[in-house]
Amino acid sequence: MDDFYREYILDHYKNPRNYGTLENPDISYEEDNPVCGDRVRIDIKLEDDRIADIRFQGEGCAISQASASILTEMVKGKSLEEVRQLSKEDLLEQLGISLGPVRIKCALLSLKVLKAGVYGIRGWPGEEDHA
Ligand code: FES
Repeated sequence: MDDFYREYILDHYKNPRNYGTLENPDISYEEDNPVCGDRVRIDIKLEDDRIADIRFQGEGCAISQASASILTEMVKGKSLEEVRQLSKEDLLEQLGISLGPVRIKCALLSLKVLKAGVYGIRGWPGEEDHA
């Protein structure tokens, strides 16, 4: 089981989905993990408050980049209200492996960027993580 998930994450790391940037995005936000400097940027194109298109770019560890790729697949086509309701548990569950506290920060970097970009809530959900 674990091997399947490791492969799933490695696949997203090596072949990231929705990778790149958008021209004239409605939302564009970037942040790094203050502990290691790894970075994720997310661009979003909205249509009727739905995520019509989404791209991410970043640099960093496999978990942070794979989780960004997985997250873009999870939210494409979703409404902003559905994004608001997305929890860190939802993303961690989708990643499918149990992670220690350091790796959880890696996994949640993309969600933090997404939520902050959509709502301008800086520091969510990892505000307790600042070094
Ligand atoms: Fe930096 Fe994972 S080590 S986000």
